[in-house]
Amino acid sequence: MQKDYPQPRKRLLQLKVNGRWREDAVAENQLLADYLREVAGLTGVKIGCDGGECGACTVLLDGEAVPSCITLAIRCDGRAIETIEGLARQGRLDRLQRAFHERLGTQCGFCTPGMIMAAEGLLRRNPRPTELEIRTALSGNLCRCTGYHNIVAAIRDAARAMRDAAVSPAPAMA
Ligand code: FES
Ligand code: FES
Repeated sequence: MQKDYPQPRKRLLQLKVNGRWREDAVAENQLLADYLREVAGLTGVKIGCDGGECGACTVLLDGEAVPSCITLAIRCDGRAIETIEGLARQGRLDRLQRAFHERLGTQCGFCTPGMIMAAEGLLRRNPRPTELEIRTALSGNLCRCTGYHNIVAAIRDAARAMRDAAVSPAPAMA
């Protein structure tokens, strides 16, 4: 005889995703990665190991990089989530995305969203990271294509471009 297991209770979740507040009823045991992919439709959040070990699912939670596959969605109530989909502005790649493209930091691309979000978290708290600091920040992100050299170079390029942009005078108005 098939046993009926109790369904997990649902709760109302309010959180800001890529700058927009949304409200959804979610099961108490729903993982953030599944919520973002299946409810919010943000499939740039990749699921590799599904156990907190590969970093493919990395997103920013209040600006800090976290593995969304081991984070409960309800723990994010009232907080801000950023995913790879939130980086580009008006169809233009942001500096990290562009640097990954130019440096060939992407091969199959599966690890790339998680790598970029981990790098974004790093550059926000440390705009001038050393190579060791970059490699340490990426230590939870695995690339099966082993493109680490180009990934680190891309992050250094992006950091430099962001610093240059911060000191350049604004273009004169016509
Ligand atoms: S899928 Fe989340 S850490 Fe691997
Ligand atoms: S580019 Fe293929 S896993 Fe990293």
